[in-house]
Amino acid sequence: MSINQQGASVHFNNDNFAVLGAYMHTPIRGQVEHVDRALFVIDGAGVIRDILEPDSPAFGQLSAEAKNAGRLTELGQNQYLLPGLIDLHVHAPQFPQLGTAMHISLDQWLQEYVFPLEARYADRHLAKHVYNLLVDTLLANGTTTALYFATVHLEGSRILAEVCFEKGQRAVVGKVSMDHPDQCPDFYRDKTTQEGLESVAEFVESVRSIRGNNKGLVCPAITPRFIPSCTDEMLLGLGAMAQDQKCYIQTHCSESDWEHSHVLNRFGKSDAESLAGFGLMTDSTILAHSNFISDADMMLIKTAESAIAHCPLSNIYFSNAVFPARRALEKGLTVGLGTDISGGASPSLLVNCQMAVNMSRLLEEGVDPSLPPEKRGIANSRISFREAFWMATAGGGLALNKKIGVLKPGYCFDAIVVDLNVPESNIQTWPEVDRPEDLLQKIIFNATRTNITKVWVDGQTVVETP
Ligand code: GUN
Ligand code: FE
Repeated sequence: MSINQQGASVHFNNDNFAVLGAYMHTPIRGQVEHVDRALFVIDGAGVIRDILEPDSPAFGQLSAEAKNAGRLTELGQNQYLLPGLIDLHVHAPQFPQLGTAMHISLDQWLQEYVFPLEARYADRHLAKHVYNLLVDTLLANGTTTALYFATVHLEGSRILAEVCFEKGQRAVVGKVSMDHPDQCPDFYRDKTTQEGLESVAEFVESVRSIRGNNKGLVCPAITPRFIPSCTDEMLLGLGAMAQDQKCYIQTHCSESDWEHSHVLNRFGKSDAESLAGFGLMTDSTILAHSNFISDADMMLIKTAESAIAHCPLSNIYFSNAVFPARRALEKGLTVGLGTDISGGASPSLLVNCQMAVNMSRLLEEGVDPSLPPEKRGIANSRISFREAFWMATAGGGLALNKKIGVLKPGYCFDAIVVDLNVPESNIQTWPEVDRPEDLLQKIIFNATRTNITKVWVDGQTVVETP
């Protein structure tokens, strides 16, 4: 038994453990906090109970006790503990076409590639196979939490939720709703609105009752694919169900020119206004993309306390524009990052951090060399790597109303170890030149999955390289 900083007793046993080493995170948007040496005490519920630094009286004793009990993980030099990455937008069934089919517009791509591929998930074996590979891949890339679209199929969607739970990934999973006969092909849509709504209700119940899921590691989400693919009746029904069941909601919002104007033509108002009208804009709503939102839409999203999943890599191919991340952040909106697999061709959220920075620079500078510099871009649009990392971690946690994304007492221990010096590393460290936060910037710009040597979710080890 020993006494830690707060005076609470800690006894290391098979439930709790400690991690000793350097860490970095971005608890405040735009600022990197870097600590050279700290002892994390993680309790039996997977929550960070305490973070002690060497000047704390209990530091030495607790480190020794954890070590003696065989419950201490010690990080080496050039290994950093970071918060786990939170991917706010993934289409799980699209994993097999990752890196292909990016030469056509969103509406054509959906009809010619996405819907035929997703329709195949009526086959539960395919679902199981792909979802196992995907969840392993995302965990290995440091994604400790993912917000997934599955498909229209009830069984396949359940399989995705079960795979996440079995592998220990924190996840929010949606069975996709799409019933509009003008936008969804006969071979891939809810048979009727009523049947679609009933199977969503069944899905919500079945995810909540996965055996052992009482803490809600995996949660269901109401998932109207996007307004074009849903009838008014479906959107209304899903809005009512989300309120009744207190569920997350995920959908696409004002993604491309075509999609944004389709909704304007249908309802005479924007995606955000329309979603709000159907009861689909709550404090548990995550809107993918939102590239074409107006200032009024931003106010609406902010007031509703909904969040945006910015998917910078996907936007290059399917969105016709760059999401004004700086403007949204400055207005106080909650913004996280998404890979949008397979609209975005990388499973890595670090790549998307880098892309968020890159795209914001293009928005600021402009891209047409025939224009004079002052007419080329939009001033004050850039975001920094610090803000990108905040979106990939703390912002994602805020979007999901979960205590994740920051390494603080009371938060879930969802964390990754990034080893800058693994043999195959592209990252070089230069101690005489590197400032502490340069290391985070180097990680964002050059870390790959080989640098991610250990991953915990909810205090459980889910990835460990030998
Ligand atoms: N809009 C509707 N469905 C999709 C999809 O699968 N991916 C993207 N990026 N946008 C969509
Ligand atoms: Fe998407």
